[in-house]
Amino acid sequence: MEIGMLMLLLSTLFLSVAHSTTFTITNNCAFNIWPATLTGGGGSQSTSTGFELASKASTTLNIMAPWSGRFWGRSQCSADTTGKFTCATGDCGSGQISCNGTGGIPPVTLVEFTLASNNGQDFYDVSLVDGFNLPVSVTPQGGSGECKATSCPNDVNKVCPTNFSVHGSDGSVIACKSACLALNQPEYCCTGDYASPDKCPPNAYSMIFKNQCPQAYSYAYDDKSSTFTCSGGGNYSITFCP
Ligand SMILES: *[C@@H]1O[C@H](CO)[C@@H](O)[C@H](O)[C@H]1NC(C)=O
Ligand SMILES: *[C@@H]1O[C@H](CO)[C@@H](O)[C@H](O)[C@H]1NC(C)=O
Ligand SMILES: *[C@@H]1O[C@H](CO)[C@@H](O)[C@H](O)[C@H]1NC(C)=O
Repeated sequence: MEIGMLMLLLSTLFLSVAHSTTFTITNNCAFNIWPATLTGGGGSQSTSTGFELASKASTTLNIMAPWSGRFWGRSQCSADTTGKFTCATGDCGSGQISCNGTGGIPPVTLVEFTLASNNGQDFYDVSLVDGFNLPVSVTPQGGSGECKATSCPNDVNKVCPTNFSVHGSDGSVIACKSACLALNQPEYCCTGDYASPDKCPPNAYSMIFKNQCPQAYSYAYDDKSSTFTCSGGGNYSITFCP
């Protein structure tokens, strides 16, 4: 090995110090929510996989980079007489407040993150590909490069087509299915003959999501979106009902 290569390798190893990214999670909704996280790849399961957050409360989570995973909010949660915990939206099926490695059952608004090591480039987006339950925003703090905020600021439940709606016990709409989830057709899911961006254009249903939340992914190949980047080890705030 050339000495130059060796030096490069050694300096790369030396600089690979893990850093932790601070997420400030705020519940600006008028009701309590139960945020959750799922680690997809990279590092270890994040510090907490689920917790209660009272209306107007805030908490911080530190996650070691590199990491990829998702955040979402659960609403209308409670424990039954046997102690089994369930939520009307975003439930992860764990039966407890911690999701412990299980994801949210759609329809649910997702915040997706890939955190780079070495203060490299992070990627993040808000996704309605699996439907919508709560409005959410992501705002970088510090960092360098683009570092733009993104969000799904509006309550899509208010404009959800009747046949895509999930109703709460009081009859109100509490979540909205995507067309893929509701109709399970290849042209809405961008699968089979429709599995490429040119063959899977926006449709009348994805446009309902897009009109409410222009920065969020409204379907699988939503190219008028929606992945954002920030470098330099920035932190992030995630606010539900921004
Ligand atoms: C979380 O999941 C792991 C592996 O699936 C399991 O061993 C552990 O008991 C679970 N923890 C809780 C608190 O349920
Ligand atoms: C769902 O509702 C929309 C209008 O809200 C309607 O155009 C569509 O045909 C319905 N689809 C199904 C499968 O019921
Ligand atoms: C991120 O937050 C940590 C404290 O939680 C702080 O030490 C660090 O400087 C912040 N990073 C940036 C880029 O602002």
